[in-house]
Amino acid sequence: MRFSSLLTAGLLAVPEVAAWGGFAHITIAYIASNFVQPQTQAYFQHLLRSDDKPDYLASVATWADSIRYTKWGHYTGVYHFIDAKDDPPSTCSVDLARDCKAEGCVVTAIQNYTSQILDPEMPAWLRAQAAKFVVHFVGDIHQPLHDEDVARGGNGIHVQWHGRDYNLHHVWDSSIAEQWVGGVHRKPYAEAEKWAAELTNMIESGKFANESEAWLEGVDFEDQVGTALTWAREGNAYVCSHVFPEGPKAIVGQELSGEYYEKAAPVIEIQVARAGYRLAAWLDLIAAAAAAPKSLEQEL
Ligand SMILES: *[C@@H]1O[C@H](CO)[C@@H](O)[C@H](O)[C@H]1NC(C)=O
Ligand SMILES: *[C@@H]1O[C@H](CO)[C@@H](O)[C@H](O)[C@H]1NC(C)=O
Repeated sequence: MRFSSLLTAGLLAVPEVAAWGGFAHITIAYIASNFVQPQTQAYFQHLLRSDDKPDYLASVATWADSIRYTKWGHYTGVYHFIDAKDDPPSTCSVDLARDCKAEGCVVTAIQNYTSQILDPEMPAWLRAQAAKFVVHFVGDIHQPLHDEDVARGGNGIHVQWHGRDYNLHHVWDSSIAEQWVGGVHRKPYAEAEKWAAELTNMIESGKFANESEAWLEGVDFEDQVGTALTWAREGNAYVCSHVFPEGPKAIVGQELSGEYYEKAAPVIEIQVARAGYRLAAWLDLIAAAAAAPKSLEQEL
């Protein structure tokens, strides 16, 4: 176990940083910065006007959450998730036609904003904004409850965490990850960078080294929606196995910081690692496409 109950008890007095919208997103961005090619780093540092800054991705990772509840940013709210109308725990599935709203969803948003980064007709500030969305949404799609419709992705399900009321979505967004690292102690960036370094080691030479290449199977820049759908289906499968193993009704009011947490934390760990590693690969593909000479066809 990687946290002490003393630390956890201390943490409860401290307001938690917001969401997968916080700590996990920042960690995912730091992992990605550890794996991108040098030319990818240069490309995104330039686009994000963050030259020479090592946290050029981490510093924009939560921006999409900060604007989604503003008047102008309200339309982006649906891009953070896909509401899989499946039937956990017996059936988990994501069906784009069934589950993606007409206004969009996280699967189409990844494709939409990826193409905006590369759109030469777009002003640089909008392409930078698109990059911030991509960094964020590749994180979101790896949180199982961002790939589920039940009770608005668990937002409507009340549970207990160390004896206090939380909604299930929040537990999966934040509480599990924060307990796993022993609390974030008002320093989410420093704690996230540390966790990212640990996960980076696990990917390079530790317990994830034998599978990290398999994490990139299905990554196809020519089929961006298909790629994102693969990620959404993988996240959604955990809804049946780990989020609602006994079904949505059975979890209501349950204390989740013990036995449930023990099973859930490894899912959070691998999903954060996958998200960071895949984000790096995706940003590499974007930077490579931006650098590629325009084909004759495109020029004509
Ligand atoms: C793509 O993003 C733009 C905003 O930049 C939005 O107006 C449009 O509806 C989006 N399209 C889809 C399919 O999400
Ligand atoms: C990687 O190794 C672990 C044991 O160290 C094993 O449980 C896991 O199944 C392996 N994964 C792959 C893809 O081989």
